[in-house]
Amino acid sequence: MPRLTHEEILHWLRESDPAALATLFARADEVRRTHVGDDIHLRGLIEISSYCVRQCHYCGLRSARSMPRYRMSREEILAGARSAVDLGFGTVVLQSGEDFGIEAAWLAEVLRTIKQETPLAITLSLGERHSDELRLWREAGADRYLLRFETSDPALYAAIHPRRGSAVSDRVSLLRELRDLGYEIGSGVMAGIPGQTYEMLARDIELFESLDLDMVGIGPFLSHPDTPLGAPNAPTAGADQVPSSEWMVLKAVALTRLVCPEANLPSTTALATINTLDGREHGLQSGANVFMPVLTPAPYRQMYQIYPGKACIDEDATQCNTCLRARIESLGRTVGTGPGGRFTRTASHSLPILRSQPRFIPRKNSPSPLVVLP
Ligand code: 5AD
Repeated sequence: MPRLTHEEILHWLRESDPAALATLFARADEVRRTHVGDDIHLRGLIEISSYCVRQCHYCGLRSARSMPRYRMSREEILAGARSAVDLGFGTVVLQSGEDFGIEAAWLAEVLRTIKQETPLAITLSLGERHSDELRLWREAGADRYLLRFETSDPALYAAIHPRRGSAVSDRVSLLRELRDLGYEIGSGVMAGIPGQTYEMLARDIELFESLDLDMVGIGPFLSHPDTPLGAPNAPTAGADQVPSSEWMVLKAVALTRLVCPEANLPSTTALATINTLDGREHGLQSGANVFMPVLTPAPYRQMYQIYPGKACIDEDATQCNTCLRARIESLGRTVGTGPGGRFTRTASHSLPILRSQPRFIPRKNSPSPLVVLP
Protein backbone atom coordinates (compact mmCIF):
# COMPACT_ATOMS: atom_id res chain seq x y z
CA MET A 1 0.00 0.00 0.00
CA PRO A 2 1.50 3.37 -0.94
CA ARG A 3 1.61 5.91 1.86
CA LEU A 4 -0.26 8.47 -0.26
CA THR A 5 -2.47 7.78 -3.24
CA HIS A 6 -1.69 9.21 -6.63
CA GLU A 7 -4.71 11.52 -6.28
CA GLU A 8 -3.54 12.79 -2.90
CA ILE A 9 -0.07 13.59 -4.24
CA LEU A 10 -1.58 15.30 -7.26
CA HIS A 11 -3.97 17.25 -5.09
CA TRP A 12 -1.14 18.59 -2.96
CA LEU A 13 1.08 19.42 -5.91
CA ARG A 14 -1.74 21.55 -7.34
CA GLU A 15 -2.69 23.13 -4.00
CA SER A 16 -1.95 26.83 -3.80
CA ASP A 17 -3.75 27.94 -0.63
CA PRO A 18 -1.00 28.96 1.85
CA ALA A 19 -3.07 27.89 4.87
CA ALA A 20 -3.66 24.41 3.44
CA LEU A 21 0.00 24.11 2.45
CA ALA A 22 1.04 25.10 5.97
CA THR A 23 -0.66 21.90 7.18
CA LEU A 24 1.25 19.85 4.60
CA PHE A 25 4.59 21.37 5.59
CA ALA A 26 3.81 20.92 9.30
CA ARG A 27 2.95 17.26 8.74
CA ALA A 28 6.17 16.70 6.76
CA ASP A 29 8.14 18.43 9.51
CA GLU A 30 6.56 16.19 12.12
CA VAL A 31 7.30 13.04 10.10
CA ARG A 32 10.86 14.28 9.63
CA ARG A 33 11.26 14.76 13.38
CA THR A 34 9.80 11.33 14.19
CA HIS A 35 11.91 9.42 11.69
CA VAL A 36 15.22 11.23 11.35
CA GLY A 37 15.26 13.57 14.32
CA ASP A 38 16.40 17.17 14.66
CA ASP A 39 19.96 16.70 13.41
CA ILE A 40 20.86 18.45 10.18
CA HIS A 41 23.71 16.65 8.47
CA LEU A 42 26.34 18.64 6.60
CA ARG A 43 27.76 16.98 3.49
CA GLY A 44 30.78 18.70 1.99
CA LEU A 45 30.37 18.84 -1.79
CA ILE A 46 33.56 18.68 -3.86
CA GLU A 47 32.96 19.16 -7.57
CA ILE A 48 35.93 17.15 -8.77
CA SER A 49 35.59 17.60 -12.55
CA SER A 50 33.57 19.73 -14.94
CA TYR A 51 34.24 17.52 -17.96
CA CYS A 52 31.13 15.77 -19.23
CA VAL A 53 30.39 13.52 -22.17
CA ARG A 54 26.62 14.11 -22.02
CA GLN A 55 24.41 16.69 -23.72
CA CYS A 56 21.59 17.08 -21.19
CA HIS A 57 19.35 19.86 -22.43
CA TYR A 58 19.21 21.67 -19.09
CA CYS A 59 22.75 21.46 -17.79
CA GLY A 60 25.51 24.04 -18.08
CA LEU A 61 28.17 21.30 -18.13
CA ARG A 62 26.82 19.74 -21.36
CA SER A 63 29.71 18.90 -23.62
CA ALA A 64 28.36 20.99 -26.51
CA ARG A 65 29.35 24.11 -24.57
CA SER A 66 32.86 25.20 -25.16
CA MET A 67 34.23 26.52 -21.92
CA PRO A 68 37.28 26.00 -19.73
CA ARG A 69 37.13 22.64 -17.97
CA TYR A 70 39.02 21.30 -14.96
CA ARG A 71 39.67 17.99 -13.26
CA MET A 72 40.97 18.09 -9.69
CA SER A 73 44.20 16.32 -8.74
CA ARG A 74 44.44 13.60 -6.12
CA GLU A 75 46.04 16.08 -3.71
CA GLU A 76 43.31 18.65 -4.26
CA ILE A 77 40.60 16.07 -3.55
CA LEU A 78 42.39 14.85 -0.43
CA ALA A 79 42.81 18.45 0.77
CA GLY A 80 39.07 18.92 0.28
CA ALA A 81 38.32 15.80 2.31
CA ARG A 82 40.61 16.99 5.11
CA SER A 83 38.90 20.35 5.17
CA ALA A 84 35.55 18.55 5.50
CA VAL A 85 36.89 16.86 8.62
CA ASP A 86 38.24 20.16 9.97
CA LEU A 87 34.84 21.77 9.47
CA GLY A 88 33.15 18.96 11.40
CA PHE A 89 31.35 17.36 8.44
CA GLY A 90 30.70 13.63 8.45
CA THR A 91 30.41 13.08 4.73
CA VAL A 92 32.11 14.23 1.59
CA VAL A 93 30.27 14.13 -1.75
CA LEU A 94 32.48 13.80 -4.82
CA GLN A 95 30.55 15.06 -7.81
CA SER A 96 31.44 15.60 -11.47
CA GLY A 97 30.09 15.61 -14.97
CA GLU A 98 30.13 12.20 -16.62
CA ASP A 99 33.88 12.22 -17.06
CA PHE A 100 35.59 9.03 -18.16
CA GLY A 101 38.87 10.90 -17.72
CA ILE A 102 38.26 10.10 -14.04
CA GLU A 103 39.87 6.74 -14.32
CA ALA A 104 38.35 4.03 -12.13
CA ALA A 105 41.53 2.65 -10.55
CA TRP A 106 42.88 6.16 -9.96
CA LEU A 107 39.72 7.20 -8.12
CA ALA A 108 39.63 3.94 -6.16
CA GLU A 109 43.06 4.77 -4.74
CA VAL A 110 41.87 8.25 -3.76
CA LEU A 111 38.82 6.72 -2.04
CA ARG A 112 40.96 4.24 -0.13
CA THR A 113 43.20 7.06 1.04
CA ILE A 114 40.24 9.14 2.24
CA LYS A 115 38.93 6.09 4.13
CA GLN A 116 42.32 5.40 5.70
CA GLU A 117 42.98 8.98 6.71
CA THR A 118 39.53 10.20 7.75
CA PRO A 119 36.29 8.97 9.35
CA LEU A 120 34.25 10.40 6.47
CA ALA A 121 31.45 8.65 4.67
CA ILE A 122 31.94 9.02 0.92
CA THR A 123 29.14 9.73 -1.50
CA LEU A 124 29.79 9.60 -5.23
CA SER A 125 27.80 11.52 -7.83
CA LEU A 126 29.64 10.83 -11.07
CA GLY A 127 26.86 9.98 -13.51
CA GLU A 128 26.22 6.72 -15.30
CA ARG A 129 29.39 4.69 -14.95
CA HIS A 130 30.09 1.04 -15.77
CA SER A 131 29.16 -1.72 -13.34
CA ASP A 132 32.75 -2.79 -12.81
CA GLU A 133 33.76 0.79 -11.95
CA LEU A 134 30.88 1.13 -9.48
CA ARG A 135 31.89 -2.16 -7.87
CA LEU A 136 35.54 -1.13 -7.65
CA TRP A 137 34.64 2.15 -5.95
CA ARG A 138 32.30 0.40 -3.55
CA GLU A 139 35.07 -2.01 -2.62
CA ALA A 140 37.44 0.95 -2.22
CA GLY A 141 35.14 2.40 0.43
CA ALA A 142 32.49 4.53 -1.29
CA ASP A 143 29.32 4.36 0.81
CA ARG A 144 26.64 6.13 -1.20
CA TYR A 145 25.79 7.06 -4.79
CA LEU A 146 23.63 9.89 -6.04
CA LEU A 147 22.07 9.63 -9.48
CA ARG A 148 18.99 11.71 -10.15
CA PHE A 149 16.63 10.02 -12.61
CA GLU A 150 15.44 13.58 -13.46
CA THR A 151 12.00 12.38 -14.62
CA SER A 152 10.09 9.12 -14.45
CA ASP A 153 8.46 9.91 -17.80
CA PRO A 154 10.27 7.97 -20.55
CA ALA A 155 9.29 10.40 -23.32
CA LEU A 156 10.42 13.49 -21.41
CA TYR A 157 13.59 11.69 -20.32
CA ALA A 158 14.42 10.83 -23.93
CA ALA A 159 13.63 14.34 -25.14
CA ILE A 160 16.06 16.05 -22.78
CA HIS A 161 18.82 13.42 -22.58
CA PRO A 162 20.24 12.77 -26.05
CA ARG A 163 21.58 9.26 -26.40
CA ARG A 164 25.30 8.64 -26.62
CA GLY A 165 25.66 6.32 -29.59
CA SER A 166 23.99 3.01 -28.84
CA ALA A 167 24.36 3.32 -25.05
CA VAL A 168 21.08 2.77 -23.22
CA SER A 169 20.42 5.17 -20.35
CA ASP A 170 18.36 3.43 -17.70
CA ARG A 171 18.99 5.19 -14.44
CA VAL A 172 16.35 3.30 -12.50
CA SER A 173 18.05 -0.02 -13.27
CA LEU A 174 21.39 1.53 -12.42
CA LEU A 175 20.05 2.69 -9.05
CA ARG A 176 18.89 -0.86 -8.30
CA GLU A 177 22.30 -2.16 -9.30
CA LEU A 178 23.98 0.36 -7.00
CA ARG A 179 21.79 -0.81 -4.14
CA ASP A 180 22.73 -4.42 -4.86
CA LEU A 181 26.39 -3.40 -4.69
CA GLY A 182 25.72 -2.18 -1.14
CA TYR A 183 25.59 1.55 -1.77
CA GLU A 184 23.03 3.73 -0.11
CA ILE A 185 21.25 5.21 -3.10
CA GLY A 186 20.02 8.69 -3.78
CA SER A 187 18.09 10.15 -6.64
CA GLY A 188 15.91 13.13 -7.40
CA VAL A 189 14.43 15.50 -9.91
CA MET A 190 14.18 19.17 -10.73
CA ALA A 191 10.80 20.76 -10.10
CA GLY A 192 9.63 22.73 -13.12
CA ILE A 193 11.82 21.32 -15.86
CA PRO A 194 10.18 22.39 -19.15
CA GLY A 195 7.83 19.63 -20.28
CA GLN A 196 7.13 18.38 -16.75
CA THR A 197 3.42 18.03 -15.93
CA TYR A 198 1.86 17.64 -12.49
CA GLU A 199 1.08 14.02 -13.36
CA MET A 200 4.75 13.38 -14.11
CA LEU A 201 5.96 14.98 -10.90
CA ALA A 202 3.41 12.95 -8.91
CA ARG A 203 4.76 9.79 -10.55
CA ASP A 204 8.34 10.89 -9.78
CA ILE A 205 7.40 11.06 -6.09
CA GLU A 206 5.76 7.65 -6.28
CA LEU A 207 8.93 6.28 -7.85
CA PHE A 208 11.00 7.69 -4.95
CA GLU A 209 8.79 5.61 -2.68
CA SER A 210 8.86 2.42 -4.70
CA LEU A 211 12.66 2.58 -5.04
CA ASP A 212 12.82 3.05 -1.27
CA LEU A 213 15.51 5.68 -1.75
CA ASP A 214 17.95 6.50 1.03
CA MET A 215 18.44 10.07 -0.25
CA VAL A 216 16.31 12.32 -2.44
CA GLY A 217 17.42 15.69 -3.82
CA ILE A 218 14.84 18.09 -5.24
CA GLY A 219 15.60 21.58 -6.46
CA PRO A 220 13.97 24.00 -8.87
CA PHE A 221 14.89 23.95 -12.54
CA LEU A 222 17.03 27.03 -13.15
CA SER A 223 17.25 28.14 -16.73
CA HIS A 224 20.76 28.23 -18.18
CA PRO A 225 20.87 30.54 -21.22
CA ASP A 226 23.44 28.44 -23.11
CA THR A 227 21.35 25.27 -23.07
CA PRO A 228 18.38 24.16 -25.21
CA LEU A 229 15.96 24.35 -22.26
CA GLY A 230 17.23 27.82 -21.43
CA ALA A 231 16.21 29.12 -24.85
CA PRO A 232 13.18 31.45 -24.89
CA ASN A 233 11.30 29.08 -27.21
CA ALA A 234 11.96 25.90 -25.19
CA PRO A 235 8.90 23.63 -25.36
CA THR A 236 6.80 23.44 -22.19
CA ALA A 237 3.84 21.35 -21.07
CA GLY A 238 1.54 24.34 -21.60
CA ALA A 239 -1.23 24.78 -19.02
CA ASP A 240 -0.12 21.68 -17.16
CA GLN A 241 3.52 22.80 -16.89
CA VAL A 242 4.88 22.59 -13.32
CA PRO A 243 6.39 25.96 -12.32
CA SER A 244 9.96 26.05 -11.06
CA SER A 245 8.96 28.04 -7.99
CA GLU A 246 9.99 27.83 -4.37
CA TRP A 247 6.48 26.70 -3.37
CA MET A 248 6.61 23.91 -5.90
CA VAL A 249 9.92 22.65 -4.55
CA LEU A 250 8.67 22.81 -0.97
CA LYS A 251 5.52 20.86 -1.86
CA ALA A 252 7.60 18.19 -3.61
CA VAL A 253 10.05 17.97 -0.67
CA ALA A 254 7.20 17.70 1.85
CA LEU A 255 5.42 14.97 -0.12
CA THR A 256 8.72 13.12 -0.53
CA ARG A 257 9.20 13.20 3.24
CA LEU A 258 5.73 11.68 3.66
CA VAL A 259 6.37 8.83 1.24
CA CYS A 260 10.05 8.28 2.21
CA PRO A 261 9.98 9.04 5.94
CA GLU A 262 13.48 7.75 6.69
CA ALA A 263 15.30 9.23 3.72
CA ASN A 264 17.93 11.93 3.95
CA LEU A 265 16.58 14.94 2.06
CA PRO A 266 18.74 17.98 1.35
CA SER A 267 17.51 21.52 1.39
CA THR A 268 19.28 22.15 -1.91
CA THR A 269 21.57 24.94 -3.06
CA ALA A 270 19.24 25.40 -6.05
CA LEU A 271 16.41 26.14 -3.59
CA ALA A 272 18.68 28.64 -1.82
CA THR A 273 19.39 30.17 -5.23
CA ILE A 274 15.74 31.06 -5.88
CA ASN A 275 15.30 32.38 -2.33
CA THR A 276 18.68 33.48 -1.03
CA LEU A 277 17.12 34.98 2.09
CA ASP A 278 15.51 31.94 3.69
CA GLY A 279 15.02 29.27 1.05
CA ARG A 280 17.37 26.97 2.94
CA GLU A 281 15.31 27.30 6.12
CA HIS A 282 12.04 26.75 4.26
CA GLY A 283 13.48 23.48 2.96
CA LEU A 284 14.36 22.39 6.49
CA GLN A 285 10.86 23.31 7.67
CA SER A 286 9.18 21.27 4.93
CA GLY A 287 10.80 17.90 5.53
CA ALA A 288 14.49 18.31 4.64
CA ASN A 289 17.28 17.34 7.04
CA VAL A 290 20.54 17.85 5.11
CA PHE A 291 22.65 20.75 3.81
CA MET A 292 25.34 20.27 1.16
CA PRO A 293 27.85 23.12 1.50
CA VAL A 294 30.25 23.50 -1.42
CA LEU A 295 33.89 22.73 -0.65
CA THR A 296 35.17 23.01 -4.21
CA PRO A 297 38.25 25.28 -4.29
CA ALA A 298 37.59 28.85 -5.43
CA PRO A 299 39.10 28.81 -8.93
CA TYR A 300 37.02 25.78 -9.92
CA ARG A 301 33.65 26.80 -8.46
CA GLN A 302 32.93 29.38 -11.12
CA MET A 303 33.70 26.76 -13.75
CA TYR A 304 31.23 24.20 -12.37
CA GLN A 305 28.23 26.06 -13.65
CA ILE A 306 25.35 23.60 -13.82
CA TYR A 307 23.04 26.62 -13.64
CA PRO A 308 23.80 30.32 -13.33
CA GLY A 309 23.73 32.42 -10.16
CA LYS A 310 24.41 29.59 -7.70
CA ALA A 311 23.85 30.77 -4.11
CA CYS A 312 26.88 31.38 -1.90
CA ILE A 313 29.37 30.73 -4.72
CA ASP A 314 31.69 33.46 -3.40
CA GLU A 315 31.61 32.31 0.21
CA ASP A 316 34.61 30.35 1.36
CA ALA A 317 34.04 27.07 3.18
CA THR A 318 34.58 28.54 6.66
CA GLN A 319 32.12 31.40 6.11
CA CYS A 320 29.63 28.99 4.63
CA ASN A 321 29.98 26.60 7.55
CA THR A 322 29.42 29.40 10.08
CA CYS A 323 26.40 30.69 8.18
CA LEU A 324 24.77 27.28 7.79
CA ARG A 325 25.28 26.38 11.44
CA ALA A 326 23.67 29.66 12.47
CA ARG A 327 20.71 28.95 10.18
CA ILE A 328 20.31 25.47 11.68
CA GLU A 329 20.45 26.79 15.23
CA SER A 330 18.01 29.60 14.46
CA LEU A 331 15.41 26.92 13.78
CA GLY A 332 16.15 25.16 17.07
CA ARG A 333 17.67 22.24 15.20
CA THR A 334 21.04 20.62 15.82
CA VAL A 335 24.06 19.97 13.63
CA GLY A 336 24.52 16.25 13.03
CA THR A 337 27.81 14.57 13.76
CA GLY A 338 29.20 11.41 12.21
CA PRO A 339 28.37 9.99 8.80
CA GLY A 340 24.60 10.41 9.17
CA GLY A 341 23.60 7.57 6.87
CA ARG A 342 20.25 5.88 6.74
CA PHE A 343 21.70 2.75 8.30
CA THR A 344 24.48 2.15 10.76
CA ARG A 345 26.75 -0.29 9.08
CA THR A 346 28.84 -2.80 10.97
CA ALA A 347 31.86 -2.14 8.76
CA SER A 348 31.63 0.58 6.17
CA HIS A 349 34.08 -0.83 3.67
CA SER A 350 33.99 -4.56 3.98
CA LEU A 351 31.83 -6.55 1.60
CA PRO A 352 29.37 -8.20 1.66
CA ILE A 353 27.30 -5.54 3.34
CA LEU A 354 25.10 -6.51 6.22
CA ARG A 355 22.40 -3.96 6.67
CA SER A 356 21.73 -3.42 10.32
CA GLN A 357 18.65 -1.87 11.82
CA PRO A 358 17.74 1.64 10.78
CA ARG A 359 18.48 4.25 13.36
CA PHE A 360 14.93 5.15 14.19
CA ILE A 361 11.66 3.36 13.74
CA PRO A 362 11.92 -0.06 12.10
CA ARG A 363 10.78 0.29 8.52
CA LYS A 364 8.21 -2.48 8.44
CA ASN A 365 6.43 -1.13 11.50
CA SER A 366 6.59 2.52 10.56
CA PRO A 367 3.21 4.13 10.88
CA SER A 368 1.87 5.37 7.59
CA PRO A 369 2.07 9.17 7.72
CA LEU A 370 -1.34 9.73 6.22
CA VAL A 371 -2.28 13.24 5.36
CA VAL A 372 -5.90 14.16 5.84
CA LEU A 373 -6.98 16.09 2.83
CA PRO A 374 -8.68 19.40 3.51
N1 5AD B 1 18.80 23.81 -12.94
C1 5AD B 1 18.67 23.13 -11.78
N2 5AD B 1 19.29 21.97 -11.51
C2 5AD B 1 20.06 21.46 -12.48
N3 5AD B 1 20.75 20.31 -12.55
C3 5AD B 1 21.37 20.26 -13.73
N4 5AD B 1 21.07 21.35 -14.47
C4 5AD B 1 20.26 22.11 -13.72
C5 5AD B 1 19.56 23.34 -13.92
N5 5AD B 1 19.68 24.01 -15.07
C6 5AD B 1 20.70 19.29 -11.50
C7 5AD B 1 20.33 17.93 -12.11
C8 5AD B 1 21.54 17.09 -11.79
C9 5AD B 1 22.10 17.77 -10.59
C10 5AD B 1 23.52 17.46 -10.29
O1 5AD B 1 21.94 19.13 -10.89
O2 5AD B 1 19.16 17.42 -11.48
O3 5AD B 1 21.22 15.74 -11.53
